[in-house]
Amino acid sequence: ARHFEAQSEKTLALIKPGMYDHIGQVMTEIARAGLKIIRLQMLVLSREDAMEFYAEHQGKPFFDNLVEMMISEPIVAMELMGPSAISAWRRLMGPTEKDRARMEAPNSIRAKFARNNTYNAVHGSDSPASAEREIAFFFGRPGYFPTTATFEKSSL
Ligand code: PPS
Repeated sequence: ARHFEAQSEKTLALIKPGMYDHIGQVMTEIARAGLKIIRLQMLVLSREDAMEFYAEHQGKPFFDNLVEMMISEPIVAMELMGPSAISAWRRLMGPTEKDRARMEAPNSIRAKFARNNTYNAVHGSDSPASAEREIAFFFGRPGYFPTTATFEKSSL
C-alpha cells in the first residue's frame, strides 16, 4: 500500500455534455489504463460554476461557447488516482482539437467521441496545481451539493 501511494497521483476528469451514451466506455478505458476512480458524481453545472471553473480562459474567443456547452447537459466528474494520473489521463483523452486527435491519436477518447472543438468529450487537469484546485472544486467543498442530473430539459 505504501509503495502504491508513493507513486500515485490524483487528477480531475470530466465527461462533458454530449457523452451520455459513452460514459461506460470512458470508465472502462480509465480502468484499463490502470487508473482508479476514487470519487464520482453526475451533476449539472450552474453558469456561475462553469465560469469559475474555466476562469483562466475568461476573455478568450471561445469562452462563451465553452461555458454554454458545459451547462447544456449533465456531466460526470471523477477523481482519478494512479501512477502519473495527470499525464496518463491526458494521454487517454488525446489532443484538444478534434482533427488533431484523429490524426495524431486515433485511439484516443477525443478522436473517437469529439463532435467538434467545443463538444470535445472530456476534460483533464493539466498540472498538479490545477488538479488540486479542480478536485477541490468538485469534491472539496463541505455542504456543496451541485444540481443532480435530470433529463427533463435536456436533449438526451
Ligand atoms: S489555451 O488558450 O491554449 O489555453 O486553450 P486550450 O488549452 O486549447 O483550451 C482551453 C479549454 O478551452 C476549450 N476550448 C474550446 N471550447 C469551446 N469552443 C472552442 N472553440 C474551444 N477551443 C478550446 C478546450 O477544450 C479547453 O477545455 P478543457 O475542458 O480544459 O479541455
